[in-house]
Amino acid sequence: MVLPLSSANSSRRPSPLRPNSYDPVAPMDDEVHPVIHHGRVAVITGAASGIGRAAAIELAKIGLKIAIADVDEQGLNATAKEVAQIIGEENLITLPTDVAQLDQVERLRDRVYEAWGEVGVLMNNAAIAPKGTSWEGLDNWHKVFNVNLFGVLNVQHTFVPNMLHQENPSVIINTGSKQGITNPPGNPAYNATKAAVKSLTESLAHELRETPQANLTAHLLVPGWTWTGMTGAAAGKEKPPGAWTAEETVLYMLDKVRQGKFYIICPDNETRREVDQLRIMWGAGDVAEGRPALSRWHRDYKALFEEYVKDGLGQLD
Ligand SMILES: NC(=O)c1ccc[n+]([C@@H]2O[C@H](COP(=O)([O-])OP(=O)(O)OC[C@H]3O[C@@H](n4cnc5c(N)ncnc54)[C@H](O)[C@@H]3O)[C@@H](O)[C@H]2O)c1
Repeated sequence: MVLPLSSANSSRRPSPLRPNSYDPVAPMDDEVHPVIHHGRVAVITGAASGIGRAAAIELAKIGLKIAIADVDEQGLNATAKEVAQIIGEENLITLPTDVAQLDQVERLRDRVYEAWGEVGVLMNNAAIAPKGTSWEGLDNWHKVFNVNLFGVLNVQHTFVPNMLHQENPSVIINTGSKQGITNPPGNPAYNATKAAVKSLTESLAHELRETPQANLTAHLLVPGWTWTGMTGAAAGKEKPPGAWTAEETVLYMLDKVRQGKFYIICPDNETRREVDQLRIMWGAGDVAEGRPALSRWHRDYKALFEEYVKDGLGQLD
């Protein structure tokens, strides 16, 4: 059975599944947004490369003070040079940090609070994506969970208690992946960590919403295909036309944070928003309708899935 498209078409038609208060935060002007704001503080993990590096540069251009952390010291120093040119050495903290090591994350927090006394934007962005299969390479599974899940948790557990006591509003942005939502075959360990990051960030958002004194919101960044170290840029190859640059992804993310969005599902030059919506709906349909796991890639369902997307897009056009 083909799933209804009401949600996929939600930007055009009201959905009975959404309360009226679904989108209470009006788009905000760059100048007036209280967090993405000149003089506030941004902490970014995984800032030696890709999206983290681009975030450090874009936030520095807006005038935030920047603390950058990464295991790759050489890459981190290169980012530091670029950021210092924008905001000056005095507004920059550069600290080699392995997010999988709690004591190193605590050291990062202490440095930032000693220097500036607050955090406005916390980007929990560092990750790795080594390949593996479901029943081989247990060491690899531990490694990727230690960085992508426990690294995110280390940062969250270390910074959130401090951020909760700040008067000014602040945001924590955890980086997930479409692979943590639609679970494509090929990299099960990475997918599982990103599914866990989605789950824990949803819980975090709920818990913060229910904490009366919290002036802190959580956001889940889900990049589209972005040309970074992780996807091939490190090898010095030219960006494929289908991918976004890291800057495009960061600018899209900043707009959505300004609008108060929790799910920040980025498109790219190959996959538009509506296609993502249909893929997500299809994946949820596997569970709801009892189809085989990952039916999108199952030989008996492939044609049905393609027809579903074609129909869905046809209804939108
Ligand atoms: N590029 C994409 O298409 C894409 C798509 C979906 C999600 N993501 C996510 O975006 C985030 C940023 O990735 P990217 O694409 O910019 O990749 P990237 O490889 O360019 O950057 C990731 C950075 O994390 C750092 N890092 C790795 N392990 C670390 C550790 N233990 N402690 C601290 N830093 C560590 C790396 O050294 C690197 O600088 C990741 O969470 C990734 O999973 C990327």
